[in-house]
Amino acid sequence: MAKTSWAEPFKIKMVEHLRMTTRDERTRAIAEAGYNTFLLKSEDVYIDLLTDSGTSAMSDRQWAGLMLGDEAYAGSVNFYHFEDAVRRFYGYKHLIPTHQGRGAEHILSKICIKPGDFIPGNMYFTTTRAHQELSGARFVDVIIDAAHDPANEQPFKGNVDLAKLQNLIDRVGAKKIPYLCLQCNVNMAGGQPVSMKNIRETRELCRKHGIRIFLDATRAVENAYFIKLREPGYGSKSIAEILLEICSYTDGCTCSAKKDSLVNIGGWLSINDDDLAEQARSLVVLYEGLHTYGGLAGRDMEAIAIGIGESVQFDHIRARIGQVEYLGHKLQAAGVPIVKPIGGHGIFVDAATFLPHIPREQFPAQALAAALYVDSGVRAMERGAVSAGRNPDTGQNIFPKLELIRLTIPRRVYTQAHMDVTAESVIDLRDNAASIKGLKFIYEPKYLRFFQARFEPVA
Ligand code: F0G
Repeated sequence: MAKTSWAEPFKIKMVEHLRMTTRDERTRAIAEAGYNTFLLKSEDVYIDLLTDSGTSAMSDRQWAGLMLGDEAYAGSVNFYHFEDAVRRFYGYKHLIPTHQGRGAEHILSKICIKPGDFIPGNMYFTTTRAHQELSGARFVDVIIDAAHDPANEQPFKGNVDLAKLQNLIDRVGAKKIPYLCLQCNVNMAGGQPVSMKNIRETRELCRKHGIRIFLDATRAVENAYFIKLREPGYGSKSIAEILLEICSYTDGCTCSAKKDSLVNIGGWLSINDDDLAEQARSLVVLYEGLHTYGGLAGRDMEAIAIGIGESVQFDHIRARIGQVEYLGHKLQAAGVPIVKPIGGHGIFVDAATFLPHIPREQFPAQALAAALYVDSGVRAMERGAVSAGRNPDTGQNIFPKLELIRLTIPRRVYTQAHMDVTAESVIDLRDNAASIKGLKFIYEPKYLRFFQARFEPVA
């Protein structure tokens, strides 16, 4: 018999109990949370698929590493371990630790962007774009059109559209483009990878015009796995080799260690250029902490250093993405509309198709996330118009093509049985979709509104 099954390359050593709630309790909890799953108390959640960020289970080795924290204010030994791991696996020269990914985005935006600049990128990410805009730049989406089509099954939907990029360069001039932001396993597109060929071609075009590339390396390991599986010529390369090659075509990266690197907090900024790194080091002191801790405890840096090494192990990444695919295949088999192909960090359900009776102005994805919580205590996240925010020029709601909920799978945390319960609940909701009502804002914050907005059902 052909052996196609895989299992996790770990066993469970400690468990965390979950509180089981009733439907009545959940109905009350979601109303109190303003129909925003970000505002639920975690103890009211059964299976938490809000995010894969900072929610990983650390290994026994990482926990042991915490005990080796050197909490010196300056020059902690753990910083040097962290620096070694980033140099070895990502290949960049300078490491500037930050409290999480957005700390790195803040500093990069501050040192590179002038008001009136443009930052092209393969789809926006919420915090990344917000920092670019706060520094006075305008984000320009240069991802291929297929990324906006949930049914398109192209294997590398995260690719940069070189014609769109060339167009922008022709329109505004390369001098107004300090860098291109290249995201791996593009989050808002459904965790869709970029191909190595596309990264190489993007590098060529940018080099010709003197435009730097900064990688959002947050899910670069997951991207490397898809390259190994899907791109000709990479099948026999290791995840570590592919990751190094991806990074070699870029000038540095911002990274949230809370995803690939298997820790609960942390991030970093990497830069190859010495002068730029100096500027970043002088700012990190102001906003994050000294350049050898950047807002992290020594023990956190040790856990990241160990987590990076674990993240590039093939058996780990195969089981991680295998679990995402397990949930995705169940939903697909039942005819639930999801973004295809199945991405790296979660399943993205197409809420606009799921709830055709709810107009976009009534936020179908927000409504679906709330309904899923009430049905089964599974917490998902809206990734649609609420996340997209408003156009800074017109103040109008942006309605992106994708109106999704994200069932994001934490790494090494849940079992296949948790995935079964989740799939059953989504399928039940699909069968009773007509009873789900749209939502309207009752409170809308100015920045990153999805985190704290409150809603009520439309009568
Ligand atoms: N870039 C990407 C692609 C991300 O997904 C995130 C965070 C960040 C940057 C920012 O990193 O949270 O450490 O400051 N994504 C989380 C998510 C919040 O749920 O997708 P951070």
